Amino acid sequence: MKGVIFNRYGSPDVLEYTDITKPSPTAKQLLIKVFASSVNPIDWKIRRGMLQIVTGKKFPLFLGCDFSGEVVTVGEEISDFQSGDQVYGFLSATSGKAYGEYIVTTPQNTILKPTNLTYSQAAAVPLAASTALQGLRDKGNIKKVQKVLINGASGGVGTFAVQIAKAYQTEVTGVCSGKNIPLLKELGADHTIDYTQEDFTKNQEQYDIIFDVVGNYFFRKCQKCLKPQGIYVRLLPSLTSIFNSILALFSRQQSKLLLVEPNPKDLAELKDLIEQGKVKPIIDSTYKLSEIIAAHTYSETGRVVGKIVLEV
Ligand SMILES: NC(=O)c1ccc[n+]([C@@H]2O[C@H](COP(=O)([O-])OP(=O)(O)OC[C@H]3O[C@@H](n4cnc5c(N)ncnc54)[C@H](OP(=O)(O)O)[C@@H]3O)[C@@H](O)[C@H]2O)c1
Repeated sequence: MKGVIFNRYGSPDVLEYTDITKPSPTAKQLLIKVFASSVNPIDWKIRRGMLQIVTGKKFPLFLGCDFSGEVVTVGEEISDFQSGDQVYGFLSATSGKAYGEYIVTTPQNTILKPTNLTYSQAAAVPLAASTALQGLRDKGNIKKVQKVLINGASGGVGTFAVQIAKAYQTEVTGVCSGKNIPLLKELGADHTIDYTQEDFTKNQEQYDIIFDVVGNYFFRKCQKCLKPQGIYVRLLPSLTSIFNSILALFSRQQSKLLLVEPNPKDLAELKDLIEQGKVKPIIDSTYKLSEIIAAHTYSETGRVVGKIVLEV
């Protein structure tokens, strides 16, 4: 089968679209024919060697978390799937192999895809939307009528976060550059801030949740625009953020780090929100898997609006 591997860490041109071995499922696994995947920044961070402590030096390495496709084989110990099921889900961020024609996975990572999405649209959802859901609901403890600020609202995670925060009936402020403000309004943001013109930490507003998707602010800097019991949620671990979490121990405000995990209940909640028309994936561009070098090069610009989809 065709898939993408790399044999050394480096720039996008280390990626090779080539013949690889088709995986075989165990009794507890599903074999899925992948129709689409997507690019997440973690993919190129792994490719660059930024997570070597986890990914090691044994090559070739594989990439790809998100998948949508059709179940081909159901392991003998699995009862709730049938061959032919149209599914979506995501694999472990650091050991996924979804940049390939077939994957093996488990029911913990997989559910039926939203019926109103194509395979390409569905592949844009799992990791980014689960991050937004888990960040806002599990770390941010999101509740109706709260004021929520999303920094980085026009990217893969941010476009889902705006819509999910609106689905939870909160008042949403999205931070992005000026060109993406019309999109945030279309997604339902109540207020927008163009970060090239205004620093949100310097206005007088206070928020219940600041969801910092970009990671260019820290808890300490955000404290004065968090309500007294507000929560700052971040996605990127760093030494400064650990220091800030220690600071938060002395405050009623909280600083929390999310590391997203696949969870079928969350994928099901997202499926419901999508089928009810409350959430939709925003797709910036679609590449063939064989064009993976161009897709990574574009993702690394940091200017992607919504998601990059890979058609397998
Ligand atoms: N911890 C976890 O579990 C987890 C899960 C998912 C993602 N992440 C991380 O979260 C980060 C975001 O992921 P993503 O998929 O959303 O990335 P992405 O789609 O590549 O984000 C691109 C977006 O970021 C915006 N942006 C860039 N600089 C900005 C700034 N200074 N202020 C506001 N917006 C800015 C860009 O908008 P403009 O062009 O308008 O600037 C663009 O729309 C990545 O570092 C990723 O690795 C972590």
